[in-house]
Amino acid sequence: ISKIGVYTSGGDAPGMNAAIRAVVRVGIAQKLEVFGIHSGYIGMVDNIIQPLQLRDMANVIQRGGTILKTARSTEFMKPEGRAKAAANLKAAGIDALVCIGGDGSFRGAHALWEEHQIPVVGVPGTIDNDIYGSDKTIGFDTAVNTALEAIDRIRDTAASHDRLFIVEVMGRNSGFIASHVGLAGGAEEIFTPDGLTTVEKAIDHIKEGIARGKTSSILITAEGQKPGRAYDLADSIRKKSGMDAKVSILGHQQRGGSPTAADRILASRMGAAAVDSLLKGQCDIMIGTEGERLVTVPLDLVTKTEKKTQIDLISLANLLAT
Ligand code: F6P
Repeated sequence: ISKIGVYTSGGDAPGMNAAIRAVVRVGIAQKLEVFGIHSGYIGMVDNIIQPLQLRDMANVIQRGGTILKTARSTEFMKPEGRAKAAANLKAAGIDALVCIGGDGSFRGAHALWEEHQIPVVGVPGTIDNDIYGSDKTIGFDTAVNTALEAIDRIRDTAASHDRLFIVEVMGRNSGFIASHVGLAGGAEEIFTPDGLTTVEKAIDHIKEGIARGKTSSILITAEGQKPGRAYDLADSIRKKSGMDAKVSILGHQQRGGSPTAADRILASRMGAAAVDSLLKGQCDIMIGTEGERLVTVPLDLVTKTEKKTQIDLISLANLLAT
């Protein structure tokens, strides 16, 4: 291979720029030409592709978001859209791709290989951490720390006013941010899409705390959890117990900001490994982590397997919040 393309797709995540930088700089060091594809699959379909040089990567390692921009393309979901994208890549002479994104992005990458034999290596970039085959995804550590900082502030005011707070964190279908932030932030209860706890259990837990002399509590809820969104949860608690809860939805601030050292290091290692894999002739795989070790996992397996929330973190948080 002599020309590779790199793109970011799906929701942005802090550290994506560090991954792009690693792909560009390792690629050029290996005598490859590297091209940036703008706005994920939209740029592939609409042919918004431009060469990237070493100096284009100056001052990006610390920047949140993605300099290549990102999107969720509906056209690429159709076979005709993918055919158009493949024709554009072939016309530009691009032999292989690095896809930085999440689940949906990898389904697209796998389809490109299956239908058009364009080799792609995936790098998991999503704050949700919900990608099977990798213990950690790029952006997760930053998002958890951003949410935690907000929760610590909320705890100050909750304690001052003896209040109950419900803090909603991101995670459309996953409870990774909620479980990590809940344990690290000393939450009284953690609601995740796995439906492990119920409103009744949470009420009992809060009441037990009050009986022991506790005057304020924080419940963490993932946006995709079973009893509904944070305001529904507050309503339900009010109806079932008479307790009032303040709601705070952290939202998209969790997606922004400068990446933590852990995310920059992870992104740099994964970006470099993706280029190395392509040079070794590997494709249709994702670079993942198993502990500190980098591993490769078939994209098909990644997209078809669910990564389970760490239930043990939730039970530990429950046990510790006494
Ligand atoms: O996948 C990352 C994520 O931030 C989810 O946690 C959230 O549900 C979703 O993206 C929000 O997407 P959008 O930015 O398109 O509203």
